[in-house]
Amino acid sequence: MKKDCLVLGIESSCDETSAAVVRNGRDMLSNIISSQINLHKKYGGVVPEIASRKHIEMIDICIQEALEQANVTLDDIDIVGATYGPGLAGALLVGLSSAKAIAYASGKIFVGVNHIEGHICADFLAHKDLVPPFVCLVVSGGHTNIVYVNDYGKFEIMGRTRDDAAGEAFDKVARSIGLGYPGGPLIDKLAKEGNRHAISFPRASFNDGSLDFSFSGVKTAVLNYINKAKMKKIEINKADIAASFQEAVIDVLVDNTLSVLEFRKSDKIVIAGGVAANSRLRERFTDECSKRGIKAYFPPIVLCTDNAAMVASAAYYEYLNGNISDMYLNANPSLKIGER
Ligand code: KG4
Ligand code: ZN
Repeated sequence: MKKDCLVLGIESSCDETSAAVVRNGRDMLSNIISSQINLHKKYGGVVPEIASRKHIEMIDICIQEALEQANVTLDDIDIVGATYGPGLAGALLVGLSSAKAIAYASGKIFVGVNHIEGHICADFLAHKDLVPPFVCLVVSGGHTNIVYVNDYGKFEIMGRTRDDAAGEAFDKVARSIGLGYPGGPLIDKLAKEGNRHAISFPRASFNDGSLDFSFSGVKTAVLNYINKAKMKKIEINKADIAASFQEAVIDVLVDNTLSVLEFRKSDKIVIAGGVAANSRLRERFTDECSKRGIKAYFPPIVLCTDNAAMVASAAYYEYLNGNISDMYLNANPSLKIGER
């Protein structure tokens, strides 16, 4: 293989169709993202059938644009990488099949990528100095994990959610107070006008010593609070609910991640996934890390949510680890982090 390694990354696990070209796992030459948010908004969440159809419409356009913007042709590409799980089966199949078809027809190496591992790699694109080992909180609409990243592509799960993902809780609470979809950014914005100490919502922890999360309790507590207020005909303060709920979720995310940091005696915290875009979460981690004289790493907002550049980066490191996929690789909607 020539000195530089160019990866064409493809992502279609949920409601973003995306293609990107990344050099040597770190340099983003292009990252084209076609978001379907406006299509799903009126249903209050992602409709899988609509998502798959839109992916089919957009995938070739995104790939073409990603190559053009990177100023390369398919001939220059060494590896084609695509998300094969977790995610929506029909949506995953669109990107995965396109990637396999391109790799097969052009004789390129094909690498299937775990979407959650992709999220972690967003930080490799954003921070050229970032190298493992480190503690990473991956927090998105579908996943909430604390992992210890031993090396590129080598993960140890230190904590995970036992029910809802944090982003899912943001989306559900947003819907219950009449905000749109996706709820995370809207709660983030509204919370700035509210009092985070106004309402005491529960912070779940487990007495078995684990650093797992549970967000269904806080979500139910918000719903109960709203229902009680309705019954008593008391007007709710949405900004206070948003701020207090957000603080409850962030408290456990920060506390558990810091516990892992201490346990592993690590000096780096890396945050990834859609919820890493949250301004209060960023503020809290930045404060806690500066108190400890260590650094908190976040991706820029565009790399927090789903994108193909992170998938291309992950494909590069999987390739270096010898993990090349064949044409029989199927979509795996419930793939876990660290699984292949
Ligand atoms: O990573 P992502 O695009 O998709 C998954 O892999 O799940 O994450 C989307 C999630 C949604 O739940 C969305 O509400 C949440 O990330 N999110 C946020 C913010 N921006 C996106 N949550 C809280 N605050 C934000 N600013
Ligand atoms: Zn994601």
